[in-house]
Amino acid sequence: MSSESINARIDVRLGSLTGEATPRNAIASIETGAVDARTFYLETFGCQMNDHDSEKVAGVLLGRGYRQVETPDAAGVVLYNTCSIREKAASKVFSRLGLFKDKASQEGRIIGVLGCVAQQEGEVIFERAPWVSLVCGSASYRQLPEMISRLEAGERRVTGLDKDVDETFETPVTRRNHPFRAYITIIEGCDKACTYCVVPFTRGPERSRTSASVLEEARRLAEDGYSEIQLLGQTVNSYADPSAARMSFSELLLAVADVPGMKRVRFTTSHPNDFGEDIVRAIETNPVLCDHVHLPVQSGSTKLLRAMKRTYTREEYIEKIALIRGASRAISITSDIIVGFPGETDEDFADTLSLLDVAQYDSAFSFTYSPRPNTAAKDMPDAIPEEEKVRRLAVLQERQREIQTLRNEKCVGREYEVMVDGLRKKDARWLGRTTTNQMIDFASPRTELLGQYLKVRVTRAGPGCMYGEEVVGQAG
Ligand code: 5AD
Ligand code: SF4
Repeated sequence: MSSESINARIDVRLGSLTGEATPRNAIASIETGAVDARTFYLETFGCQMNDHDSEKVAGVLLGRGYRQVETPDAAGVVLYNTCSIREKAASKVFSRLGLFKDKASQEGRIIGVLGCVAQQEGEVIFERAPWVSLVCGSASYRQLPEMISRLEAGERRVTGLDKDVDETFETPVTRRNHPFRAYITIIEGCDKACTYCVVPFTRGPERSRTSASVLEEARRLAEDGYSEIQLLGQTVNSYADPSAARMSFSELLLAVADVPGMKRVRFTTSHPNDFGEDIVRAIETNPVLCDHVHLPVQSGSTKLLRAMKRTYTREEYIEKIALIRGASRAISITSDIIVGFPGETDEDFADTLSLLDVAQYDSAFSFTYSPRPNTAAKDMPDAIPEEEKVRRLAVLQERQREIQTLRNEKCVGREYEVMVDGLRKKDARWLGRTTTNQMIDFASPRTELLGQYLKVRVTRAGPGCMYGEEVVGQAG
């Protein structure tokens, strides 16, 4: 993979913790002409779970002799792996599908919708975009080659919308997008039923993988040269080992961190309810476990947390923060926040703002509430007008910006170990990530740094990024 494409992925990844619908490529029009039927184009929207699902889809297709191409123009099979967390995300796929409105652009192509919009909208997609012939949810990705063969044999439309909870959610081959960092899904689905969220509907109930299979995959990845692993789950710390080993989540973290060759182990996303002291102790015990916890609060008002069915109070959440801040190493904390949930008063919003001051997040992803189909909050009374949601979001983001600026300024003059995961060609600056998941944009006299661990001194700080230079002669 070229450094440029890694760089593009970094830009994406900064937003992708959040489930933001970030398109990986932008295409304005589709050219027509003969295409090789055994080529595919795959565009991914959404969170890291979707990124990883796309790696599995690519693995399945490559394993069956398909070739991946960079543009839909050149592809016999065009696939969109979609996100439906917010309305804006879901509508993006329909604007992409609009590129194929005219007959000539559909000629000889299979056009498919995968992922959360597929699961959520099902066959309705065929009505909205009749040129789509394949609609497939994440539990059916293994069947994709067969589904494509059926279309090639003359079937007009195929769907794979089962929510097969017995599925191991692992495909036999996964094509990894990043040469040094790899994802492992340890738990799929979600049982939490937050009232605003489509995930329990689109990804089904919670099911965990056995600890043995997680460890086996981690060992294989380490042997293949991956030094950083990110354990994934919508509620990763609700992990419940279904095997006789009955490993707890924190035991699993320690076991993965102990795999020879592993330098960094991350995990996301943690639910506050299942976040216990044992996780903090595990991070303290083994420095391979990264000093970062993504612990979405969603709101600082207990009243709203109740309406959201988050199952913790403001005070209980603050106790979790104190637990993390009390650790022997500085662990960074990040969050997701929704503003403008139905019934959010000025006081509730003020509670969220004051929570920012208490939590001192290293970064926070914030969103205006978006009513979603198949969720309990969809028809709740006291909806907040859109302009007010947008106003509150701006206020919240400004407050968080100030907090981050102050926090980052304190890092100036300090040295950090980073894993280099990008090079910006235009000014030859490198991008590295600290164990706390902060980005440092730095200069180095050296070349070929991708994937290396090295020391960087911070010379300047902004709210979203720090800037510095490599401490030469001191490998990390
Ligand atoms: N509206 C706005 N934001 C949402 N999120 C989830 N559902 C919605 C919604 N309906 C946010 C939450 C979650 C993140 C991935 O997306 O903050 O943590
Ligand atoms: Fe959605 Fe809540 Fe589950 Fe997170 S914990 S995926 S917000 S239902």
